[in-house]
Amino acid sequence: MTPTQNQTIIEVKTSPTPGSSYQVLVEDGLLTKAGSLIRQHPALQGSCVILSDDRVAPLYAQSLTNSLQNAGYAPKLITVPAGEKSKSMAILEEVCGQMVTAGLDRSSFLIALGGGVIGDLGGFAAAIYFRGIPLVQIPTTIVAQVDSSVGGKTGLNLPQGKNLVGSFHQPALVLADPLTLRSLPPREFTEGLAEMVKHAAIRDPAMLEQIPPAWTPNLAPIIARNIAIKAAIVTADEKETTGERALLNFGHTIGHAIENAAGYGKFLHGEAISLGLIVALQLSRQLAGLSAEDACAVQQTLQRLGLPLDLRPAPPPEALLASMRTDKKFSAGQIRFVLLRRLGDAFLSSSVTEPTLLEVLEQLRAD
Ligand code: NAD
Ligand code: GLY
Repeated sequence: MTPTQNQTIIEVKTSPTPGSSYQVLVEDGLLTKAGSLIRQHPALQGSCVILSDDRVAPLYAQSLTNSLQNAGYAPKLITVPAGEKSKSMAILEEVCGQMVTAGLDRSSFLIALGGGVIGDLGGFAAAIYFRGIPLVQIPTTIVAQVDSSVGGKTGLNLPQGKNLVGSFHQPALVLADPLTLRSLPPREFTEGLAEMVKHAAIRDPAMLEQIPPAWTPNLAPIIARNIAIKAAIVTADEKETTGERALLNFGHTIGHAIENAAGYGKFLHGEAISLGLIVALQLSRQLAGLSAEDACAVQQTLQRLGLPLDLRPAPPPEALLASMRTDKKFSAGQIRFVLLRRLGDAFLSSSVTEPTLLEVLEQLRAD
């Protein structure tokens, strides 16, 4: 596909076949054009289902269905409860069962319409249904547009922890419509901005000042800029083997520990990541020579956007460390931490020890 006026297309290269790739399209109003865009893709000609959740479906499923019907598809809608609890084996079984009932076969495809939960659940269902069918991602949260819909990570949670089951299953097509972000409640909009701050810190410092604190018309350029950062990283290290993709975990080691130790739901993901960024900045100051000025630029951006900076409401340091020990990023007893030498220059470090981390956490809680 070549971009039309006001449309950005970002190419993501993948490895299964040399030279294979998929496109991420960003444009206001894309949802209503989805049917004709999907029709142009050679792998997306069979029957299809739309997977969504019970908050997103009432807002956008009809518009998507109309667009697909106009392009000659007869999609069935499968709806699951909104929220993290739907990333479960039980819900996956339910979804796959409904796909069988809907008559989907190996030539069919799945459209994930929603946030990261739907993208991860739908992506995993597509990865395993009939040993793999194509996936279209139509992300409707900031996290999903700038992060989870791109790069092919799919997965579910187990009672023992988050994202412990999953697979890489690259989408055939991603359609990001920034107009859908307008209906996000303010807290959900704000938390998504933490991933933009992360992208800015590791790759694009000039973006720090340009992230808007609330929905505005013309969000498409900044969404596209973030997708381009994610796309470049996952193109360079699709399966997270060289360490480059792991840079996307900046702020996430402590962020995940906060989410987990506090109990999922107390902090939204992006709120926990904001606190994780504060810790990672302080560690970068102590261990990687990050300047006070650079750290301050990120902190001030988080503050301007209304993201949390204060660690005191988070679980105590010992609880965070206990939670980190169960994290995938805690390998062979070593904490893998992404640190910054300067804005835009991130690296993966194994030099963060538990005593240093405890000291930094205590220090930040005392400040
Ligand atoms: P989410 O999917 O739970 O969406 C947040 C809430 O917003 C939900 O209640 C949803 O119903 C609602 N919502 C979604 N779009 C809306 C819209 N346009 N208007 C109104 N309400 C809307 O959460 P999320 O933050 O999008 O994603 C978090 C999930 O993504 C986590 O499970 C996380 O593990 C996963 N994730 C995956 C990757 C990856 O690479 N696969 C990356 C980052 C996050
Ligand atoms: N969200 C991190 C990754 O996709 O690798």
